[in-house]
Amino acid sequence: MLNGKIRAAVLVSGGGTNLQAILDARGKVIRSAEIALVVSNKPNAYALERARTAGIPALALSPKALGGKEAFERELARVLEEHRIDLIVLAGFLVILSPDFTRRWDHRILNIHPALIPSFCGKDYYGLHVHEAALARGVKVTGATVHFVNEIPDGGEILLQKAVEVLPGDTPETLQRRVMEQAEWILLPKAVELVSEQILSGE
Ligand code: GAR
Repeated sequence: MLNGKIRAAVLVSGGGTNLQAILDARGKVIRSAEIALVVSNKPNAYALERARTAGIPALALSPKALGGKEAFERELARVLEEHRIDLIVLAGFLVILSPDFTRRWDHRILNIHPALIPSFCGKDYYGLHVHEAALARGVKVTGATVHFVNEIPDGGEILLQKAVEVLPGDTPETLQRRVMEQAEWILLPKAVELVSEQILSGE
């Protein structure tokens, strides 16, 4: 921790619009954290470009290339220690972390999920599939949730939630976009600040 700021790492797998929301919130909503590192499990994730454009150290660690999830998590832990990371933010990161890893970072990992947990969550619900399931069930309200990560996929303590209306004629894509714009990109920076303040004040 330096200059009264904690050091956060953002883990990504894809386009990185949530990463972008975090980057854009620096110095505004996010005042207590520095974004010190971005790690992707996919070498070609566009999120890595966004990080590099913002001048943030960005690297890809592929579980496959490293020989499996155990080796991936070992290397991830090493990199996080090397960069003296205090808080891990999962922003569209689609690897399920092992209980060993989540225990080691107890209350230090945040995740954004594109639904109102406990609806449409758990190991098979990610990305567009979440919105497909919400439309198939016919819900009229969905939203997003930021929660701490524990050993149960999408099962950790809920920090923030925001509801978003489902509109007639929605497709998974239109609904995904509305949930991002009206909920995810607002909630995630807020949650990063909230938890960073708590860490700084020693809670
Ligand atoms: C976001 O909608 C995020 O909530 C979701 O993946 C998308 C990533 O988009 N995450 C999950 O489904 C996790 N279970 P992004 O790369 O543009 O931020």
